[in-house]
Amino acid sequence: MEPSSDKYMRLETLLLPLETHSSLSVRFALSFCFRDDDVIAVTYPKSGTIWMQEILPLVLNGGDLTPIHTIPNWDRVPWLEEKRLELVVNQLLPPRALVTHFTYNIMPPSFHTSRAKVIYVMRNPLDAVVSSYYFHQMAEFLDDPGSFDEFIDRFLEGRVMFGKWTDHVKSWRHTKLGDRIMYITYEEMVQDLPAAIRRISTFLGRRLSEETIQKIAEHCSFNAMKANTMSNFSLVPKQFMDNDKSSFLRKGKSGDWKNHFSAEQLARFSSVICKDLGDEILSLPYEL
Ligand code: A3P
Repeated sequence: MEPSSDKYMRLETLLLPLETHSSLSVRFALSFCFRDDDVIAVTYPKSGTIWMQEILPLVLNGGDLTPIHTIPNWDRVPWLEEKRLELVVNQLLPPRALVTHFTYNIMPPSFHTSRAKVIYVMRNPLDAVVSSYYFHQMAEFLDDPGSFDEFIDRFLEGRVMFGKWTDHVKSWRHTKLGDRIMYITYEEMVQDLPAAIRRISTFLGRRLSEETIQKIAEHCSFNAMKANTMSNFSLVPKQFMDNDKSSFLRKGKSGDWKNHFSAEQLARFSSVICKDLGDEILSLPYEL
């Protein structure tokens, strides 16, 4: 089944949901003026974007909880490509934090000439596809996912928002960004959040005390974010996101794919991902 033309727009190989994107928002993103002290977290959807929207302001401001308790995540750390950015950009205090699902080749010219820092968060594609499947059930502005089996094929063929997982990961692996980019995995963050926050704060040049790191980790835990109305999407009307069907903050675990994939599905998934990745598979931290 082809993606619905009334739900998505195309930007090169990427599909962008029309509810949150428009040709104007894309034009705004492509002419966005990055500053040297900007920080942007890059993710393929369902790989830890909103987690970074919680962590980044706290690391950058030394643990002041005001932004995460008073500003919804989509305005606090806006998406580069979404409609909201133009509305809130002038309210962002420096250093500004943003997120994006763009592939590297689409990033605007000023991104390349600036010294803006980048944190690329990768998640095991087996868990990303499961998370995306549930997200498609609750996000009324996306296509119905069909059965999990059907959805696996759509994901592998890139007929989902922001295209193929493999294209995304590959595009950000060999950049000319040098020490401007840091790579982290969702799994690393699940395993030891304080250590992940320590690594992020060092990368961003912030010296945080151990007490502050522990405090940030506590407020960025799955349960704390699930209880935070500024972060759990409960402010979004049910006609756009139906939390009764599935929560945005659903399970927050690594390895949930084991509860969803049959042996045949796993073999099919792994074979396509490995073929698409080619030699890149060797440097991935996942056994597929
Ligand atoms: P699950 O659906 O597997 O629970 P994104 O923000 O990129 O859309 O990613 C959403 C995924 O990140 C969801 O995964 C969500 O639960 C998970 N997530 C968000 N905050 C988290 C946290 N503090 N701890 C663990 N997982 C988190």
